[in-house]
Amino acid sequence: MSSHPNQRCMVTGVGGYLPKTIIHNDQLSSEFHLNTDDAWIRTRTGITQRHRASENETTSDMGIAAARSALHDAHMDGADLDLIIVATSTPDQAFPSTATIVLDGLGSKHAVAFDMNAACSGFLFALIMAESYLMQSNKNHALVIGSESMTRLLNWQDRSTAILFGDGAGAVILSRTASSDRGIIGHCLFSDGKNGKALHDLYVTTPSADHPMGVIVMDGQAVFREAVSQLISSTHTLLAEKSIDLADVDWIIPHQANKRILDRMCTDMNIDHRKMLYTGDMHANTSAASIPLTWWKARQNNTIKPGQLILLQAFGAGFTWGSCLVRS
Ligand code: ACO
Repeated sequence: MSSHPNQRCMVTGVGGYLPKTIIHNDQLSSEFHLNTDDAWIRTRTGITQRHRASENETTSDMGIAAARSALHDAHMDGADLDLIIVATSTPDQAFPSTATIVLDGLGSKHAVAFDMNAACSGFLFALIMAESYLMQSNKNHALVIGSESMTRLLNWQDRSTAILFGDGAGAVILSRTASSDRGIIGHCLFSDGKNGKALHDLYVTTPSADHPMGVIVMDGQAVFREAVSQLISSTHTLLAEKSIDLADVDWIIPHQANKRILDRMCTDMNIDHRKMLYTGDMHANTSAASIPLTWWKARQNNTIKPGQLILLQAFGAGFTWGSCLVRS
């Protein structure tokens, strides 16, 4: 039961950060010697380029940059924050958490900070945890970051995975407000860990001397099928629970894994493809950072108007998945 029955949590600021180095599809064959080409990657995934963090650039560095941009958008500074969650599968190290490094970088003396890993669904899971915290406490402002150094998990000899991922960070400020109709209006989250790691369709190997963080291994077609199916089912579950018609959703911000997955979902659900916001062509799959990065771009373009209904959709390794409705 919420301690604040007539209030909601609203997104009051959105920010993002993408590293300076860009790797275009063509460079994967010319510089990384992958047996692939631009046309194959574009057609199968929608991706045209990805960003790569510099050698000394960490997940916390990118998170801090995205956080500053979200704080600026919300007209706030680090001292105003009560909670910082960093959703990441690629933390700077096991501990201290990336979130406490971000906290220090922002000068957020009063905030509670921790990391969360739900793979590509991490941002959505963290957003809901932040909402629950604010609604159950006397705290007002949370910073939710998705920040990932995915290229550090890549085997650059594996063309089936190396083409798909990129680095970056996105962030939102979530604030408890007196509004009862705007903000987060519902969510559903799911996890399924059956089969154990060895049989998973998508996982990171145990670390080795060559790959200190492990490398991504994936059965692309199995992940494709599972992603389409769970994005659709969680959306139907949430809309039914809230008695909201899909036609009343103005914008969809899905996890930016792969344009073909999203096109297939839109076709199967009879969704107007123009409602689906997609920026993955420019930054590839940035895992937990992808939803806030797309939101950031929409914010910059003034795409989403006050009062419009946004559907967030996530799917990631685990598997983890879910949906969330936000009234802008
Ligand atoms: N360039 C050229 N050829 C390639 C490449 C490449 N990068 N990768 C694979 N191929 C070849 C394969 O070797 C195969 O050749 P063959 O027919 O001679 O054996 C052929 O292309 C077809 O390979 P498939 O794996 O069947 O290709 P598919 O159409 O399934 O596309 C892809 C592969 C893009 C990975 C697709 O399965 C997919 O999108 N899966 C979803 C995975 C995903 O997005 N994961 C992201 C992480 S999960 C998440 O974020 C939720």
